[in-house]
Amino acid sequence: METVCKNVDSNVNSQTNYTQAVDILNAGEVVAFPTETVYGLGAVATNDTAVKKIFEAKGRPSDNPLIVHIGTKEEVELYIEHISEVAKKCIDLFWPGPLTLVMPVKPNVLANSVTAGLATVGIRMPDHPVALALLRQLKKPLAAPSANRSGKPSPTEAIHVQDDLGGYIPYILDGGSTGIGLESTVLDVTHEPPVILRPGGITREMLEAKIGPVIQPTKIEQKLEATPKAPGMKYTHYAPNAPVLLIECDLEKVHEAVHQLQKQGHKVALLAPASFEDIEADFYFSIGEVGSKEEMGATLYHALRACDKTAATIILATTTSTEGVGAAIMNRLEKAAGGKWYTP
Ligand code: TXA
Ligand code: MG
Repeated sequence: METVCKNVDSNVNSQTNYTQAVDILNAGEVVAFPTETVYGLGAVATNDTAVKKIFEAKGRPSDNPLIVHIGTKEEVELYIEHISEVAKKCIDLFWPGPLTLVMPVKPNVLANSVTAGLATVGIRMPDHPVALALLRQLKKPLAAPSANRSGKPSPTEAIHVQDDLGGYIPYILDGGSTGIGLESTVLDVTHEPPVILRPGGITREMLEAKIGPVIQPTKIEQKLEATPKAPGMKYTHYAPNAPVLLIECDLEKVHEAVHQLQKQGHKVALLAPASFEDIEADFYFSIGEVGSKEEMGATLYHALRACDKTAATIILATTTSTEGVGAAIMNRLEKAAGGKWYTP
């Protein structure tokens, strides 16, 4: 299959591209599009045959449900059985935005493969002009996971989608780099208090300031049987080809670690803040200014993917605290590293 990639950012003929995307979706095919978090791979959420093509293209396990994207807040009532007061507040305050709400699904409206047999569905209204324009012209909900091959870091640029899914999907809407760079927060509002199933751009602190206590399970709690889970969080994720080791963001320690790993014969790719540039790693990718979690979130997946284009045999990635969006960053980094830290 040929994959067509159309720039809609600065293109005067954007309307033609939206029309093509809508026609392809209505014909039961998939289209990749940008959101404010990462690129999504969309199919009409009421068309089961179309939604199954997402799983095929990504190589995604079929027991992992998809997020449904809508273009207006009002539409949520079409798909949700009961919208709780907390859910209403979240919709009011955080949509459009990087917050997916898990709520009880209305039976027989969405395609079965969207929910993977669960009684709930994750739904969000993205805050990106291209995603919203597409949804509003389509006038249908889009089921869309991140547009990467299963297991790879999520795409933050159209070229990442092309690298992973070129030849498997017919169309990509290229809207440039996504802003946040990490997937949405998944909040289960069927629980009281609500549970963060996946940390993201809307942080625990931001939620608690508006809706009161929320539960963000620790790594240990996540493993416990009784803790609510996002099915997707059990799979390997965000992993580049070479093994990743985490390390504290300390110039001296990182310098020494690079040196030691090279002495062991490794080609080291270093993911670190701009001020670590002078360390003589074999490959270096900046993750922004020291302490800027926003920059780190926005550049992390790009940097992890860039390592795959090098001959690195090991990737050393500096960490951050779990405050604010740091919780989401560390969640993804821990998964990319399989929980492994550098030890001298
Ligand atoms: O930012 C995002 O959320 C991006 C963009 C494209 O919107 N999408 C995304 O989708 O990250 P995906 O499929 O890669 O991740 C969805 C996560 C998975 O971990 C999945 O298990 C969980 O949300 N999820 C979806 N529906 C759920 C449900 N009903 N109950 C619990 N977890 C659910
Ligand atoms: Mg994903």
